[in-house]
Amino acid sequence: MNPNEVEIREMEVEDIPAVYHLGDRLFRGPRLSTLYRTWDAYEVTTGFNQDPELCLVAETPAGEILGFALGTTYEKEKGAWKYGYVVWLGVDPAYQGLQLGSKLYQEMERRMQGQGVRMVLMDTAASNQGAIEFFKQMGFGKPRNQVWMSKVLRDQGPKKGRRTSPFRRKRANLEIQPPPQR
Ligand SMILES: CC(C)(COP(=O)(O)OP(=O)(O)OC[C@H]1O[C@@H](n2cnc3c(N)ncnc32)[C@H](O)[C@@H]1OP(=O)(O)O)[C@@H](O)C(=O)NCCC(=O)NCCS
Repeated sequence: MNPNEVEIREMEVEDIPAVYHLGDRLFRGPRLSTLYRTWDAYEVTTGFNQDPELCLVAETPAGEILGFALGTTYEKEKGAWKYGYVVWLGVDPAYQGLQLGSKLYQEMERRMQGQGVRMVLMDTAASNQGAIEFFKQMGFGKPRNQVWMSKVLRDQGPKKGRRTSPFRRKRANLEIQPPPQR
């Protein structure tokens, strides 16, 4: 496969299954998954519906999808700047290191700039050193540490054995009924 023959183009509806399955291989593993962001089919379909211009694929002449990039933009209330956000970027592990990620990112950036974006953001697990190095090469800097915490909520439902039976409820209703009028 000649990487120069790989085309970077906008994702089409027929690409959705291939993108989903490639993302599943890349992002479902314990190394890259985070609790606050999960790869699933909605990540692809929502991106495709909301920001089709920022959903890109890398395709061989034979029609094989080797990589993809899904991005979005947003503005802050009362803020003057428009921000771009690289939500997901992935290249098939067998074809990493061939500049496909760079090409996908550069096309994404070109399109974001065309939409008036002033700053592009990305986030990933601190352990994803490969991606951090990659984004540094793409010109990203000023990494900020952010703490995120979690709390498991205990089941708040009715306690076992203390559920009020229909019979008891009926009896309780009887108990609070006003005395019959004479
Ligand atoms: C991050 C990723 C998209 C990079 O794609 P890629 O096609 O392999 O990257 P490129 O070949 O364009 O790399 C460009 C430069 O980035 C740097 N780089 C890329 N991957 C790197 C790695 N694993 N370790 C260190 N540097 C890396 C290198 O400097 C490289 O230039 P070089 O090949 O001339 O040395 C790819 O590794 C990937 O899919 N990773 C898993 C998913 C992921 O973590 N996505 C990012 C978060 S959403």
